[in-house]
Amino acid sequence: MTRVIESIPEIIAIVPAAGIGSRMLSDCPKQYLIIGRQTILEHSIASLLAHPAITRVIVVLSPNDVQFQHLPLAQDSRITTVTGGKQRADSVLAGLQVAGTVEWVLVHDAARPCLHLSDLTNLLALAQHSRVGGILAAPVRDTMKRSEPGKIAIAHTVDRDNLWHALTPQLFPLELLHRCLLRALDEGANITDEASALEYCGYHPQLVAGRSDNIKVTQPEDLALAAFYLTK
Ligand code: CTP
Ligand code: MG
Repeated sequence: MTRVIESIPEIIAIVPAAGIGSRMLSDCPKQYLIIGRQTILEHSIASLLAHPAITRVIVVLSPNDVQFQHLPLAQDSRITTVTGGKQRADSVLAGLQVAGTVEWVLVHDAARPCLHLSDLTNLLALAQHSRVGGILAAPVRDTMKRSEPGKIAIAHTVDRDNLWHALTPQLFPLELLHRCLLRALDEGANITDEASALEYCGYHPQLVAGRSDNIKVTQPEDLALAAFYLTK
């Protein structure tokens, strides 16, 4: 083992996989679509277990899930499952509730199968010196437009400087994430990723520049792209 790996503490990963993938318009939840020989969910979990600091993965499933139990992963001693909730944040909270007393927790979308080990390693390095944690993110490339409310016409161009796409994984001290999620949900804040719960509570998580091929399979055309990236 290298010195870097030795100095990263044990980290538990939570994989929210309780969504239905409505934008994907597929017959089954998108995390169960096959790329190559495995489901998207299996690729996503394998990308996490590739790092030796990740010793346990909590997979958050829909109460209607009928597919996970048929995957070989269901027999893997490193995997625990729990039932998720209505919103993604509810699902992550359900995962946190069974995570135990570990110091750091990593949250990764079930629908991001193309995560590279180098990006994961860069993010996990935060556990050595940060108190707040951070996220993988990619700088915005295109010119950004804001539309008129309720119309499909340009109101103005949004300055692209300092604008990032928020990706996953996102890494936080478990206790801090738990506290921020509970408060943000309780106060009705709009929480679309874990970082937004911390932001709501006044924290400023780190941005770790990651690869732009770490896509979230969201719409039908993303499937071929993810398949292409996975063969690279
Ligand atoms: N997710 C979850 N619990 C929810 C909603 C979403 O665990 N109540 C998970 C999804 O399974 C996915 C991740 O959060 O892995 C990112 O969400 P998204 O890409 O929006 O997936 P879906 O909500 O399933 O898709 P859609 O929004 O198109 O319905
Ligand atoms: Mg969704």
